[in-house]
Amino acid sequence: MITVIGLGFVGLTTALGFSDKGYLVYGYDTSVVKTERLRKGMVPFYEPYLDEKLNQYMNNRFHIVDDLKDAVDRSEIIFFCVGTPSRADGSADLSYIFDAVKSVTECITKPQFKVLVIKSSVPPATTSECIKPYIESLGFKVGEDVGLINNPEFLREGYAWSNFMNPDRIVIGQESDRSGEIAENIYGPFRAPIYRVSLTTAEFIKYLSNTLLATLISFANEQSLIARAIGDIDIRTAFQVLHRDKRWFGTPAAMTSYVFPGCGFGGYCLPKDTLALVSQSIKNGYSPNILKSVIQVNEDIQQFVVRDITEQVGPEETIGILGLAFKPNSNDIRETPAKRIIEMLIQKGYRNIIVYDPMAMQEFKEAYSLPVEYASSINALLSKTGYVVILTAWDEFVTNELSIRKKHVFDYRYLYG
Ligand SMILES: NC(=O)c1ccc[n+]([C@@H]2O[C@H](COP(=O)([O-])OP(=O)(O)OC[C@H]3O[C@@H](n4cnc5c(N)ncnc54)[C@H](O)[C@@H]3O)[C@@H](O)[C@H]2O)c1
Repeated sequence: MITVIGLGFVGLTTALGFSDKGYLVYGYDTSVVKTERLRKGMVPFYEPYLDEKLNQYMNNRFHIVDDLKDAVDRSEIIFFCVGTPSRADGSADLSYIFDAVKSVTECITKPQFKVLVIKSSVPPATTSECIKPYIESLGFKVGEDVGLINNPEFLREGYAWSNFMNPDRIVIGQESDRSGEIAENIYGPFRAPIYRVSLTTAEFIKYLSNTLLATLISFANEQSLIARAIGDIDIRTAFQVLHRDKRWFGTPAAMTSYVFPGCGFGGYCLPKDTLALVSQSIKNGYSPNILKSVIQVNEDIQQFVVRDITEQVGPEETIGILGLAFKPNSNDIRETPAKRIIEMLIQKGYRNIIVYDPMAMQEFKEAYSLPVEYASSINALLSKTGYVVILTAWDEFVTNELSIRKKHVFDYRYLYG
């Protein structure tokens, strides 16, 4: 049996979704107005399919309770779906979660392991740094008396039912395997890929997704402001043509390679075109903050790489650089992050740098006369150094993972798990 606390968009969908999968579900909400309407079979907000499902399951597999005690006593798992609005300073207001956790734990009297699942969106580290200590302050040892899970929800309003019933992925952030297993079993009937990760990783995955969406929207809006400032641009058509790019929906959908961290963009087009559009927009009276930040972050990430290496390896050591091209399957070395990173290392006194790239060695050598040694193969490079820095995501570096990982690896392309 399952209890769901908070019967808004997420909670009601969760409760009815689990009912649909055959579970007996208890629902609880502090809003009497809401629970009264729900009991009459009316969904207090617009969301397709929910009223139908509410009427189908109400009082057989879905029970709205006024008193939590019985529901909590009978449930092995309790989902918290209360709101987490912004405070004035932008931080998340956790007071609804704390209130709900308090009400639930007050009902736990028997020594029976129950899993508390935070489904509300909370910023990374909140479950382990705020919610867990709070539960412990109420006298419960997390991991022994109760389990704790962060299980973000990815549904879109308007599509809540189909998103919940056919999820692309289910993320279970767990404080222990025991809790993770219980949560995974509950989701078994959904037949979706399940990712069991740490509490904080689960929270991060949710914010990674939402902030990307927010960034894309603001990006599109900033572009519309740039276009209006320049003038004579058909904004609607421009975006419709952008959407024809196969990278959005082709197989594989190559857009994924752009939304993946690395050590900065390079090559002939992205750096110069971004700079040029910023300059053109400013000339026309609009200063595009996102694009200026895009350029700044590209600089920041390269500075980070150099700082990270120099904090761990002294200048007297030999450093092996794997990858010179700005991207794999290309010998283009224009504006490649490798150039800037190697230059910064040299400036910081690193004299022994050995480099290897499957395709771009000659081009790099000719374009930039940097004092580095060129290795003829990965193995030749590995034989000369204990430190390997991966700057380009070549397949060859993946197939040679075993030998490369015998060294201290700085994997800035996140090739290895
Ligand atoms: N709406 C979405 O599309 C969506 C999608 C994914 C995640 N989320 C996240 O899920 C959480 C809930 O969002 P929502 O849109 O369902 O919010 P909502 O405001 O629609 O619902 C929250 C419900 O919790 C109830 N509540 C508050 N305190 C309570 C308590 N102590 N005990 C019992 N009930 C209590 C409220 O009365 C309300 O009905 C938020 O953290 C939100 O960020 C929302």
